[in-house]
Amino acid sequence: MKPRVFVTRRIAQEALDLLATSADVTVWEGASAVPRQVLLEGTKAAEGLLSMLTDAVDAALLDSAPVLRVVSNMAVGYDNIQVEEATRRGVLVGNTPGVLVNTCADFAFALILAAARRVPEGDRFVRAHQWKEWHPALLLGMDIHGATLGILGLGAIGLEVAKRARGFDMNILYYSRHRRHEEENHFRLTYVPSLDTLLQEADILTIHVPLNEETRHMIGARQLSIMKPHVVLVNTSRGAVIDQRALYEALRDGVIARAAIDVAEEEPIPPDDPLLTLPNVTITPHIASASVASRTRMAVLAARNLLAGLGREPMPHCVNLEALQHQRVLKDL
Ligand code: DGY
Repeated sequence: MKPRVFVTRRIAQEALDLLATSADVTVWEGASAVPRQVLLEGTKAAEGLLSMLTDAVDAALLDSAPVLRVVSNMAVGYDNIQVEEATRRGVLVGNTPGVLVNTCADFAFALILAAARRVPEGDRFVRAHQWKEWHPALLLGMDIHGATLGILGLGAIGLEVAKRARGFDMNILYYSRHRRHEEENHFRLTYVPSLDTLLQEADILTIHVPLNEETRHMIGARQLSIMKPHVVLVNTSRGAVIDQRALYEALRDGVIARAAIDVAEEEPIPPDDPLLTLPNVTITPHIASASVASRTRMAVLAARNLLAGLGREPMPHCVNLEALQHQRVLKDL
């Protein structure tokens, strides 16, 4: 008998076809994210779950899914999953790093360019029929070339952003948990010893850290207050890395000049969020990895993770291999 798997969104057909070779697949076909109750129903008898970053995989779900063995998230981030809870229950968790790195770095750079050179503001200006004449001081922005780029988190995506910045002749600083000497030399990056230094030095700050207890609200009112007043802040990681209320106040009060964010503390951002009233922030709907090619690669990798885990083979990307220990312990009980 093929194992049952529940897929919480219609994903690339290539991935669904792959799953169907070895699993009995149910796909949530709704236009919106799978409702919680349907998710619980769908996983009740499933051995595998292919989840999206919008699905909360928590203790309650894991408890109501007694035969669940693998959760494969179609994202590199997995803050929607209570990994420790999964591990304790012997449930393997997979994610999709690598395949979206360049696409996300391209997008982070798109936001850097757009915000620093005020592209969305220019577009809104024209559409509002405000373009009456050329003016020497109209929508003046910041040069990218020669500016100091601060990269917070030099993982795979942060490094790809740095490579793009090299092409723009930027001065590149980074602060990261792990220092990367080889990359420093190769791409002429400067490591700074503290987050505060990075914040104080950057003309443009781009964030590439995962969301966890260490990084939640890593950028709050104090951090914003020590940044340069002309700084452009770009976030394509997770919304909660920034205290969004503090960001709103800093942008409103001119503590910092501009921001471009692809992620929000609450997604979708509520229509009455005060950030939406500000002209100096650009907001996109969590689309950094949204190219046809990347989303297909992510779906296929998520399918491969799921099938490997269900087949008791090494998963291409598993974030909690220690769950295997718990599977053994649980079996011995
Ligand atoms: C991820 O993979 O974590 C991104 O946020 C969505 O692609």
